Formats: sequence, structure tokens, C-alpha cells
Amino acid sequence: MTSPKLQSPALIQNVSAEPNPEWDQFLVNFFGQEQLPNSPLQPIFEPLHHPTTDSMFVIGQIGQTMDGRIATVSGQSKYVNGPAGLTHLHQLRALVDAVVVGSGTVLADNPQLTVRKVNGKSPARVVIDPRARLNRHHFIWQDDGVQKIWIVAEGTLVNPPPQVSLVQLPVIEGSIDPALILKNLFIQGLKRVLIEGGAETISRFLVAKCLDRLHIIVTPIVMGSGRLSFNLPPIEHMDQALRLEVKTHLLGSDVLFDCDLRNQRIVLNLVQDDLVQTRNSE
Ligand SMILES: NC(=O)c1ccc[n+]([C@@H]2O[C@H](COP(=O)([O-])OP(=O)(O)OC[C@H]3O[C@@H](n4cnc5c(N)ncnc54)[C@H](OP(=O)(O)O)[C@@H]3O)[C@@H](O)[C@H]2O)c1
Repeated sequence: MTSPKLQSPALIQNVSAEPNPEWDQFLVNFFGQEQLPNSPLQPIFEPLHHPTTDSMFVIGQIGQTMDGRIATVSGQSKYVNGPAGLTHLHQLRALVDAVVVGSGTVLADNPQLTVRKVNGKSPARVVIDPRARLNRHHFIWQDDGVQKIWIVAEGTLVNPPPQVSLVQLPVIEGSIDPALILKNLFIQGLKRVLIEGGAETISRFLVAKCLDRLHIIVTPIVMGSGRLSFNLPPIEHMDQALRLEVKTHLLGSDVLFDCDLRNQRIVLNLVQDDLVQTRNSE
């Protein structure tokens, strides 16, 4: 009998992946079938399979301690979550077309943003860096055949590394509109998007009502100090707080809070094609 690993071009085998036949079969089904068969992974990842608001699906993920911290005061976050939480993050990466981080995360962590702990294809890597604070030597620019996008403020002079697309977007009141970022990813064929952090980046997508789903993975650690998961505008009354519709799942010693934000997600106008100047470096 043919192994499921040979049935799908989506199923890239990673040398560092731990054996996980249940995941391998799920991945084959995810990219190959209209309906996902029942499996333990199906309730968690089914929403990514069929976008409901428009043609895009946007999921945020954040790994935090029980007291809502994502990193130490100095910005160290490797690793807040336990092994199963980390595997979950790599599974999310394997299911999306693009992973997005803010400049703060690249400067603090120099992450690779690839799929390594499970089998699967690494998504395109996108960084929001309006002031072009990154240099040409971060791991995210490594030449591994994966699409790479550097989003900077309109008019910023940058000399991107080879094979990196530069996207220039307007900054209004200190922010690039998350909806505009998503539309630009859409026109580049990137429709399933993971907003991986950090706090500032996810918070801006949340405030802009640009998330379909939010995965908050809580690990049984109390840090007592450090950076908070979210940075949202202050509210006066509890009834103004964002109340989330949530399902929970155990991931080893971590708990995944799978938050459904479809009720508040704005519809993106995905037909415009004259949004930005994009250029590929040589
Ligand atoms: N535990 C976890 O799950 C997790 C995940 C990721 C990161 N982290 C940790 O989080 C920390 C970094 O988080 P952070 O909140 O400081 O930084 P961040 O969210 O990674 O990056 C924030 C910066 O990105 C740019 N940016 C993002 N969205 C933007 C928008 N819509 N418009 C304009 N600019 C935008 C801005 O850059 P400029 O400041 O250049 O204008 C902003 O200051 C690190 O310590 C990292 O280790 C933890």
C-alpha cells in the first residue's frame, strides 16, 4: 500500500519532524479533500479549511503564561509553550500560505518561521517593518525557495536581500492598515494567513477586526513580569471588553483557547488590484 506521505505534493517531509502518522494523514486530507474526515485534529483545524467571511482566512496565535506574558522583560520568549504547544504552532504554519510577524519579533528572536517539528511545507514569510529596522542577515531571509515579503512604509528606501519582495504601504497615524496588508497578500495568492506575533502586531489585527480566529495557548507558568499578550485601547467598563466565543483543547500540559472571531471580522474588499508598488529584488 502507498504511504500517505507519497500521495500529496503538500506533504513535504522534514528531516527534524517527529513521527506523527495522524498528522501526516490529516495534512494529506487537508490539501486533498473537500470534506475533512473525523480525526482528533479535525475540530481544531477545520475552520482553516473553509473560509466563511470572504476568500481569506486569518488566524492569530499567541503563546502565553497563565499571567498573560509572552516574553520576559528583555524580550526572550524561547520557549513559552511546552512541546505540544510548539508542535501546534508548526502545524498551523504547515496549513497556511503565509506567516506574518512584526519587526519587534524578528529583532528580538531572529526566528526562522519554517515548519520543522512536523511534516509540511513552510509558508511564505512576511514581516511588517515600516521603518525598515531589519537588516539583510536575519534568518527569515534565508534562501530556501520560500516566498519572502518585507512590508515597509511608503517612500522608505530599502535594498532588500535577493528573492525578497518589497511592499510599500501608507502609514496613517503610525499604523499600516491590517486590511490593506491582507489585500496585498491576497493579490500575491496568499489566502490563508497566520499572524504569529508579537503582541503589538496581533493586537493591531484584532482591533482592526481582521482576524477570523485566535489561538491563545496558555502554558502553566507564572512569569510575574514580562511582556503582555495584548496591547488594546483602554476601556472604562467591563461590558466594553472583548468577550470571546471559545473552545478549549488540551495540548500536553498547555491549554489551547480556540477563539472564534468570525462575528466581528470585517469583509475585505479583495477585488482591488492597484493597491501598492511591489517589486522583486534581483
Ligand atoms: N509567545 C509568543 O507567542 C510570541 C510570539 C511572537 C513574538 N513573541 C515575543 O514578542 C516580542 C515582540 O513583540 P512586540 O509586540 O514587541 O513586537 P511585534 O508585534 O513583533 O512588532 C511590532 C512592530 O511591528 C511593526 N508593526 C506591526 N504591525 C504594524 C502595523 N499594522 N502598522 C505599522 N507597523 C506595524 C511596528 O514596527 P516599528 O516599531 O518598526 O514601527 C511595531 O512596533 C518579542 O519579545 C518576542 O519574543 C512572543
